[in-house]
Amino acid sequence: MKNKLILVTGGTGYIGSHTVVELIEQGYEVVIVDNLSNSEERVLDGIEKITGVRPAFSCFDLCDTTALEKFLTAYNSIRAIIHFAAYKSVGESVREPLKYYQNNLVSLMNLLTAMKKHHIPDMVFSSSCTVYGEPDRLPVTESAPVKKAASPYGNTKRISEEIIEDFIKSQTKIHTIALRYFNPIGAHPTGLIGEHPIGEPENLVPYVTQTAIGVRKQLKVFGNDYNTPDGTAIRDYLHVVDLARAHIVAIERMLDGKQKNAYEVFNLGTGHGNSVLEIINTFEKVTGVKVNYVITKRRPGDIEKIWADPTYANKELGWRAQSTLGEALLSAWKWEQYYRKHLEKKN
Ligand code: NAD
Ligand code: UD1
Repeated sequence: MKNKLILVTGGTGYIGSHTVVELIEQGYEVVIVDNLSNSEERVLDGIEKITGVRPAFSCFDLCDTTALEKFLTAYNSIRAIIHFAAYKSVGESVREPLKYYQNNLVSLMNLLTAMKKHHIPDMVFSSSCTVYGEPDRLPVTESAPVKKAASPYGNTKRISEEIIEDFIKSQTKIHTIALRYFNPIGAHPTGLIGEHPIGEPENLVPYVTQTAIGVRKQLKVFGNDYNTPDGTAIRDYLHVVDLARAHIVAIERMLDGKQKNAYEVFNLGTGHGNSVLEIINTFEKVTGVKVNYVITKRRPGDIEKIWADPTYANKELGWRAQSTLGEALLSAWKWEQYYRKHLEKKN
């Protein structure tokens, strides 16, 4: 047993809940902080069913410094933090930019301030490949230039990375690993936890599964006039369980003092790109279910193609995405079916 206490902010959310499962399975103790602005407390039931352990949970907003202080006084043996909590809807961030700057930046600065005060040395931060914009070269390495963000959401990730880097430089006791995720998809193989967007999904895979199950009438494929083999845009889709496991490796690197620099950045992707039509075709093949779709115009702000060069994470972290695209899509489908059968009615 590792027996070390890890604070997971945003731990009832999509990626957070899968990471909590992996942490518990590796013998860590976990405490979750989440204000449930984009998740539900019953996610804890799913985590408990999978692991046999119900993690400690504290419901408050990380922008609330009084609540954070009270929490850290009660939980005074936290060894490291994985900071997932943030708003993540690109479209909403364009409509309400201040909501995004306020939540994503203030919660981060509160946490960094608290880490210093409470002597918590290590943090893993959720960043995104959105910081690369439309890259000049593919695959994208960590040294590719950070570009102007296409949305306020994307900008909060760029600014967050800068805030962390400046903060790390200003003192000697805190270390951070920023993980730049490409496109996480899928669900836990049990189908007991997964991604459940509130309202109409913005991301592709939840839209595919909701269309397949009949909750949405038709999937819109945003553009088939890109400079790609089938004309649809290309992304690097990775299984959320692979992504969750990368957080364990990152935490262990910090706990074991193996970081080369106090601030490190890693790309997390498979190294392969798939087009929107390839996602639909693979989904249909592995599930046997047809997806009703139509080609429409491009979505403003979308880039044409991006996929990761994950070599640095492969070599330095010893981490590699293991699952196939088919496995990831099948798990997303299993979760969608479980959600509609067991959870939706209870809303
Ligand atoms: P999510 O919305 O499912 O989870 C985020 C959780 O944080 C939610 O449960 C929400 O209630 C909570 N939260 C938000 N603001 C909070 C606050 N102020 N105080 C307390 N809790 C708060 O999102 P996710 O997909 O799991 O993403 C996790 C992280 O990874 C985010 O930082 C996101 O920006 C980043 N990321 C996600 C993707 C993706 O495709 N899902 C890609 C790149 C980066
Ligand atoms: C988007 C965000 C990115 C964020 C990520 C995770 C934009 C421009 N980028 O990435 O900042 O980190 O989500 O939340 O929004 N698609 C369709 N039909 C749909 C939905 C999507 O064709 O109904 C296409 C998109 O055009 C894109 C691909 O599917 O080519 C993937 O889209 P999506 O899942 O939204 O992810 P990104 O756009 O890559």
